[in-house]
Amino acid sequence: MIIALVPGSFDPPTKGHLDVVERCTGLFDQVVVGVVHNPSKTPLFTAEERVEMLQACCKGWPNVRVESFEGLLVDHATKIGAKTVVKGLRAVTDFDYEIQMSQMNRHLSGDVVSLFVATKPEFGYLSSSLVKEVARLGGSVDDLVPPLVAEALKERLG
Ligand code: PNS
Repeated sequence: MIIALVPGSFDPPTKGHLDVVERCTGLFDQVVVGVVHNPSKTPLFTAEERVEMLQACCKGWPNVRVESFEGLLVDHATKIGAKTVVKGLRAVTDFDYEIQMSQMNRHLSGDVVSLFVATKPEFGYLSSSLVKEVARLGGSVDDLVPPLVAEALKERLG
């Protein structure tokens, strides 16, 4: 069984994230979406809320499981038997950050391989931070996030 871990903050999940997860569903036997729970950060949505949103968004993909994790990514990958970590790349600006993380992860565990998936061009400008800012300022995020996430943003941000 080939398992991939797709980690992230997902605060909140966007259509860009889901595009990456969907691409993985056809490549791996099992795809584990790992929501990072970092107790030193204050996200807009709790890890439980992010897991619930992602579970609802991914319910059409039988080989996807969503869970949260704390601590090192490579430790979680090893724990669940994932040798591959998949991240989306929107543009060259993501590359600097992602290559640094993947090399650090390789230093921490030579068993875990990072793979990068290019996001759809139409999601190249999309980020959770911008989605939150637009929603906070009253703009529409309907094209950027699934309806249940748009609803959750409206409830949380008024
Ligand atoms: O969606 P993001 O914020 O780009 O995801 C970043 C994430 C969660 C993949 C990264 O912060 C992470 O791996 N966190 C777990 C802690 C860890 O292993 N840190 C060292 C990585 S170099």
